[in-house]
Amino acid sequence: MPMVSMRQLLDEAAQGGYGVGAFNVHNMEQIQAIMEAARATSSPVIIQASRGARSYTNDRFLYHLMMAATELYPEIPVALHQDHGNSPETCKSAIDLGFTSVMMDGSLEEDGKTPASFEYNVAVTREVVEAAHARGVTVEGELGTLGGIEDGVGSGEVHLTDPDQAVEFVAATGIDALAVAIGTSHGAYKFSRKPDGEVLAMSLIEEIHQRLPETHLVMHGSSSVPRELVDEINRYGGQMKESWGVPVEEIQRGIQHGVRKINVDTDSRLAITGAIRKHLAEHPSDFDPRDYLKPARAAMQQVIEARMTAFGQAGHAGDYEPIPLEEMRERYRTGALA
Ligand code: 13P
Repeated sequence: MPMVSMRQLLDEAAQGGYGVGAFNVHNMEQIQAIMEAARATSSPVIIQASRGARSYTNDRFLYHLMMAATELYPEIPVALHQDHGNSPETCKSAIDLGFTSVMMDGSLEEDGKTPASFEYNVAVTREVVEAAHARGVTVEGELGTLGGIEDGVGSGEVHLTDPDQAVEFVAATGIDALAVAIGTSHGAYKFSRKPDGEVLAMSLIEEIHQRLPETHLVMHGSSSVPRELVDEINRYGGQMKESWGVPVEEIQRGIQHGVRKINVDTDSRLAITGAIRKHLAEHPSDFDPRDYLKPARAAMQQVIEARMTAFGQAGHAGDYEPIPLEEMRERYRTGALA
């Protein structure tokens, strides 16, 4: 199956009332883990790469690995998404490379650190929407800023999304999906206690969804940081501090209120690192990378399968045929997707 546009995948999810995990990758084993999980659970899936991941894989490796994924798993609808594009140029280069979706994160300036003005955000996001929709490609925008810093991206400050501004932003930009800031952050250290309504503003999602019922909402920083994965790392020599992630039940609550895309990266990293540490601790004379990369890949697959099941995307891979990007382009042009 050719790669599908993220818009189609999210429209289908909205119709079916489920969410779709968007899992970050930067190497072959991660792509394999996600595709195997998608096959095992019959799930459509979003695979995403940050700028850091694109530079790590030198773009071409990533592109050809994704081509291999679509060839080897023809029954799985998969969208390839640019995570946190910092400029229109980054997004346009992703489109040229064959990504079927891009995020223009104009909540931050091009340095990926400084919170940007609303006007700047609207201008760069609108520019990307025009370029992307002209090629049938989906656009995610962001309003408000997350906490935490990952791959050098992030202001470190949380600015929750303002629902009034969200309505104005969607109307002014024409985006397909809106990432909202509700108190989550990237990385393993999100909350210093089990999050409640004071630090994780799920009610804000409900409010934004009420005002923008047709807009697909995106939750960033949605790793759950399971205690057992952190314990596994620490049991075998790691030194991770205690922390809390986003409970899966809260994500499920978000899905009931318009959240369609859920970004998960850290949980995969934790699963991989724990499995590698365990293997090397138990087999100190091993030196073939396959010996520890196989259990690492299996551990990531297990986490991804659990998320696919919890988000509700499991069982939906066979629901639809991909709409070619040329047809999506036509639908944008005629206003059918507005
Ligand atoms: P986590 O660090 O919680 O996995 O979030 C990843 C993310 O939001 C990527 O954009």
